[in-house]
Amino acid sequence: MKTTIAEVSKFVGEEVTIGAWLQNKRSSGKIAFLQLRDGTGFMQGVAVKAELGDDKFQQAKGLTQESSLYVTGVIVEDSRSSFGYEMQVSNFEIIQEAKDYPITPKEHGTEFLMDHRHLWLRSRKQHAVMKIRNEIIRATYEFFNQNGYVKVDAPILTGSSAEGTTELFHTKYFDEDAYLSQSGQLYMEAAAMALGKVFSFGPTFRAEKSKTRRHLIEFWMIEPEMAFMDHNDSLEVQEQYVSHVVQSVLENCKLDLEALDRDTSVLEKIKAPFPRISYDDAVQLLKEKGFNDIEWGEDFGAPHETAIAESYDKPVFITNYPAEIKAFYMKPDPERPEVVLCADLIAPEGYGEIIGGSQRIDDLELMRQRYEEHDLTGEAYKWYLQLREYGTVPHSGFGLGLERTVAWISGVEHVRETIPFPRLLNRLYP
Ligand code: 4AD
Ligand code: MG
Repeated sequence: MKTTIAEVSKFVGEEVTIGAWLQNKRSSGKIAFLQLRDGTGFMQGVAVKAELGDDKFQQAKGLTQESSLYVTGVIVEDSRSSFGYEMQVSNFEIIQEAKDYPITPKEHGTEFLMDHRHLWLRSRKQHAVMKIRNEIIRATYEFFNQNGYVKVDAPILTGSSAEGTTELFHTKYFDEDAYLSQSGQLYMEAAAMALGKVFSFGPTFRAEKSKTRRHLIEFWMIEPEMAFMDHNDSLEVQEQYVSHVVQSVLENCKLDLEALDRDTSVLEKIKAPFPRISYDDAVQLLKEKGFNDIEWGEDFGAPHETAIAESYDKPVFITNYPAEIKAFYMKPDPERPEVVLCADLIAPEGYGEIIGGSQRIDDLELMRQRYEEHDLTGEAYKWYLQLREYGTVPHSGFGLGLERTVAWISGVEHVRETIPFPRLLNRLYP
């Protein structure tokens, strides 16, 4: 019977065959422990000389790292491993004996591992991060589908810029100029006027010359947009969504979190509601914490966000930033037009901003005024203005950066390990 490591619990006491790679091995004169992985999981195979016979046992002892095999044996319970099962190997067939594998169990430098990303993905920790990423995506679709949202796909090639023109990737679109999408938001606003509650999930691009542990050039964003919802309604969606994602990972990725040595007690606390602090109070808090340089009207940097997050054990919303430092489409607070109805959600433990969101301007005249201030001319922006001409309604939305969320939940230091093939300032390969 052919099966996979993920399925072996159904075959205790039975003989099965698994296609696998040899990750590592230990052996003595009479017994060899084969660390097997098959993509679905990790399991030990125990090869005993008396069972296999001399020749086969010698062959097992000589297997090189990452050799591919069909391994046959009986599945038994193994209470010593957290996986809980192992295989008593009765036979194996070598598919290919691997050459000297570059990534050995010893420590390697980051640049070396990044150069070998196509192979590094096979390692236990990288596998665990990819499984957690997958679970976050699964839980995202689950949450929004359960709550009546429609998934809408935004274009990647665009004529407009949502988040400012300085970080755009330019390309030719036949005779026209085009840009790689920075955000699907403007399109989601159109979609929300057609479908009510929508979300997009796709790649976004920022030609940011930043080399930090939070920045990728190409990253994936989940962007919900809701008609008839105001800023506060949106914050409630955000805290429920993030809680759902974290609790789903805790429930469905136990072995992966363990492989990453993630402290799960901090994740267990991540349940709605989340604390909120206004930008004004955040500036005050920073001054109290010794950041004397920060002045009202300035944007926060990573050290500021980290210092604010330290005061909480849940993600914290920083709300109502000065309009000056935020995007053109954000709705001013009617009581205090110098600030906008927006929030950034800052993750705990120094992972920084994972969500940016706001209520959008729904007033045609005010939007016209913003177009003039920001010089948004030409065909590329005409359609967006029309959304305010034909039955405009209050609406809000947000964007969650997938990789920063994966980094936080997995507890990995740098976003480069949270996407299969990261695009960084100086890296386009592999
Ligand atoms: O705050 P941002 O720029 O917001 C928007 O793009 C809005 N249009 C979203 C919306 O309202 N629909 O980006 C949203 C999130 C950030 O909070 C961050 O998590 C992530 O995207 N992000 C990045 N992640 C990795 N690398 C980068 N260079 C990122 N820039 C933003
Ligand atoms: Mg932002």
